[in-house]
Amino acid sequence: MSLQLTNEQLTAAAREFGTPLYVYHAEQIKQQYEKLLSAFNGSKVVFFYAGKALTNLNVLHYINKLGAGIDCSSINEVKLALHAGFTPQRILYTSNGISFDEIEEAVSLNVNINIDSLSNLEKFGQKYGHGYPVGLRLRPNIMAGGNIKISTGHDKSKFGIPVEQLDKILVVVKKYSIKVTDLHIHTGSDIKDADVFIRGIEVLFDIIPHFPEMKSVDLGGGFKVPYKDGDEEFDIDLVAKKVKHAFDSHPQARNLEIWFEPGKFLVSECGYFVTEVNVLKETAATTFVSVNSGFNHLIRPMFYDSYHRIGNISNPGGTEKNYSIVGNICETDTFAWDRSLNEVREGDLLVFYNAGAYGFEMSSNFNSRLKPAEVMFEGGKARVIRKREAFEDLLRHQVHP
Ligand code: LLP
Repeated sequence: MSLQLTNEQLTAAAREFGTPLYVYHAEQIKQQYEKLLSAFNGSKVVFFYAGKALTNLNVLHYINKLGAGIDCSSINEVKLALHAGFTPQRILYTSNGISFDEIEEAVSLNVNINIDSLSNLEKFGQKYGHGYPVGLRLRPNIMAGGNIKISTGHDKSKFGIPVEQLDKILVVVKKYSIKVTDLHIHTGSDIKDADVFIRGIEVLFDIIPHFPEMKSVDLGGGFKVPYKDGDEEFDIDLVAKKVKHAFDSHPQARNLEIWFEPGKFLVSECGYFVTEVNVLKETAATTFVSVNSGFNHLIRPMFYDSYHRIGNISNPGGTEKNYSIVGNICETDTFAWDRSLNEVREGDLLVFYNAGAYGFEMSSNFNSRLKPAEVMFEGGKARVIRKREAFEDLLRHQVHP
């Protein structure tokens, strides 16, 4: 049984805190984390939450309390994670194209690091030699994920050191006697096929024997969540079974820890984005419903053509009609075209589901609009975990002419 916030809870939150509003449900994060633990029960597995999906400190703090680690994609995410209470041992910095200064800072903060270029590996070797354990982010040349924009492991992707450059990696590792303890891949987001992970493992298994100090294999994140009605739930039990089998049957991998970096799987479904209808506009082509938001607050539909379920929680029994749901941004910002909704009136609350991951996190101040507030329900009670921006925030870092 999946936990969901009710229409009444969402309506009450909108009344109390205003709209547009991001609402998160802590217990849904817990439920997802427990699904992972139970699927991988019996394997030596560690889950590093991909913090880039949603970095509100309260969410990080909650996930830390659940016992997960965190995967970071910038030095500031590392600092936020420390701020939220994660210990350095449970922080992983999977770098990509970053300056060596950030790697030095990550070392000074004592966190785990995955290096993704030969250039930084060389600098790392020169400075730290065998003195600081490190992981290598590899590009396995596997096409995976729901959309080319979120596929990261294929042979034209910028991410990771291409596996065909193994000889070059080995030269650098040997030259400085670098202590390689982890091999990492992340092939994409919205992966529905368990076999993608097995193909990744097979690539890594050929490479493991070159690194006798290895402690873990990191298979990244990307577990798909059901965005559309009828979308299948990602079969985490099947992945767990296949991964366990692959590791158990490989003598050199058997004792390694298995790491994953789920983002969407942990925080997508816990998030509800509540908006209010400003204007209804009948046209020959469609009836537009303009809400008090836009791609400045939820960019996924415009950026990735993503589908988010939308519900009219103010009129759940209303007759179903077709509408095109758009924002109030001075640029085309269509959330959904020709979508069936219970009859919409101006002032109704429309909720975008599955908005926890890469929702608020990718929001901006485009059109000088303010970012929404964030609220978290825990134990049935809602509290503000980020204040709504005010006009002064737009001026904060500007230099007055
Ligand atoms: N690990 C690494 C190294 C990653 O780059 C990512 C996501 C993850 C883990 C987590 O992937 P997830 O489990 O969340 O799929 N903004 C896009 C998704 C971009 C994902 C970027 N990397 C979206 O809204 O669909």
